[in-house]
Order: sequence, then structure tokens, then C-alpha cells
Amino acid sequence: MEIGILHSHVTIVTLFLLFLLFKSILLFTNKNQLLNKVRTKFKMADPILGVLMLATGGYLLYLYGAEAPTYLWVKLIIVLLIIPIGIVAFKKENKAMALIALLLTFYIYGVSEAGSLTFSKESTLAEDTSDPQPEISMDDQPGIISQNMENVLETGKEIYLAECKKCHGKDGKKGLFKSPDLTQSKLNLEERIAWIKKGKGVMPAYKDQLSESDIEAVAAYLDELK
Ligand code: HEC
Repeated sequence: MEIGILHSHVTIVTLFLLFLLFKSILLFTNKNQLLNKVRTKFKMADPILGVLMLATGGYLLYLYGAEAPTYLWVKLIIVLLIIPIGIVAFKKENKAMALIALLLTFYIYGVSEAGSLTFSKESTLAEDTSDPQPEISMDDQPGIISQNMENVLETGKEIYLAECKKCHGKDGKKGLFKSPDLTQSKLNLEERIAWIKKGKGVMPAYKDQLSESDIEAVAAYLDELK
């Protein structure tokens, strides 16, 4: 159900964006007559898409609950601005306003894709990866090994809280978008690593977002949730 809503939300936003783009092109190329025809013919398109966009988006926001990232709220406010600006822009054939609506729409589309207001996909651990862990050799003291494991789990926890908590919850049981309870997962470490790299359905693939050692760290951390 949630996944369906997420997919419909993306489809609706894409349709809204394409329609806005189409009308803007007509306006900017001074095809006002055609623009008016399109507007009269598809008079209901914007209000319907707008309501659907807000309804599906609002529902997704509700699913996130108190953990909704700030960018989702900013998106909501911007969408509430775009709809009236767009309506007035095409009614009054005002190019500046149409441009604003268009730019704002592209902006929130980008924000949604990147999941951040500044489009930075930064992993919270970017710095840690450039600082390689010391090699563990056969004659290392067990104390050093366990300290290393502690570092890995600490790293794993940070990544978990930054990337995974929003769907899986702090304790692994949140189940947003029907994600399974991670405390009940039967996957072993290897399988979890493979899963996190590939992602599935709504769950993003982390292969290109996180380094190999970050993925291993977060996969190891999942045992701590049990
Ligand atoms: C956007 C939501 C979302 C995010 C973010 C997310 N997951 Fe998931 N995760 C899911 C969903 C949904 C599934 C179930 C997918 C399916 O079976 O189709 C899942 C499944 C899993 C599974 C498989 C569990 C099992 O036993 O089947 C693991 C392990 C997992 N996620 C770990 C993580 C880790 C680690 C992160 C962060 C690096 C993460 N997830 C981020 C939504 C998410």
C-alpha cells in the first residue's frame, strides 16, 4: 500500500511537472492562443493533480511521523506556493511567474531525488572513509581487535541512524513502507551486505552511496538491534 502510494506520488508529480513545462513552453514561445485552448480543455488537470499530489504527499509525510526529514516539510510549503503561482501565471500570461513556478517545481523535484535541500548526498561518514582503519595482524592483542570492532559498530550505528532509521526505525521495528522488522531478520552478514548494496523496491541501493567498509559496518551493526 505505502509503496503504491509512493509510486503514484512520483507519477503524479512527474505529470504535473510535464504539464507545467508544456504550458511554459507555449507561453515563452508566445503561442498564447494554443495555450488558452490547452488551458480550457484541461481546465481540471491542475486542480486534480494538485490535490492528488498533496494528498499522496501528505499521506507519506504522515507515515514518516515525527521522523519526517525537514526537506519534506519545505517541499510541502513550496508545493503550496507553486499551485497558485502556476494558476495565476497562465491565466495572466505572466512569463516571470511561470518561470518561478517552473524553477520551484524543478527545485523540489531535485530535492526529492537527492533527499536534501542542498542536493548534497553526503554520507555522514565521508571523512571516516578517507581515514583507513589500521590493519589487524595475527599478533595484534585481542584488546585491539575488540576495540576495532567497537569502532566498526560505532560507525555502523552512525550510518544506520543517518540512512536507515527513517524507514526501519531506531530499533529496527518501525516497518515504514512495509519494511521487515530487522530484529527478526534471518539474513546472515554476507546476505545483509549484498542486500544493502542492491536495495529492493522502495529501499535504495547503497552500492554507490556508501563505501564498502561503511556497508560492512552497518550490516554488522544490525546484529546489535537483535
Ligand atoms: C526508504 C525506506 C528504506 C530505507 C531508507 C532503508 N530500507 Fe531497508 N528495507 C526497506 C524495505 C521496504 C525493505 C523490504 C523490501 C522488500 O522485501 O521488498 C527493506 C529490507 C531490508 C533488509 C532485509 C531484511 C530481511 O530480513 O528481509 C535489510 C537487511 C535492510 N533493509 C537494511 C537496511 C539498511 C542497513 C539500511 C540503511 C543503510 C536500509 N535498510 C535503508 C526500506 C528501507
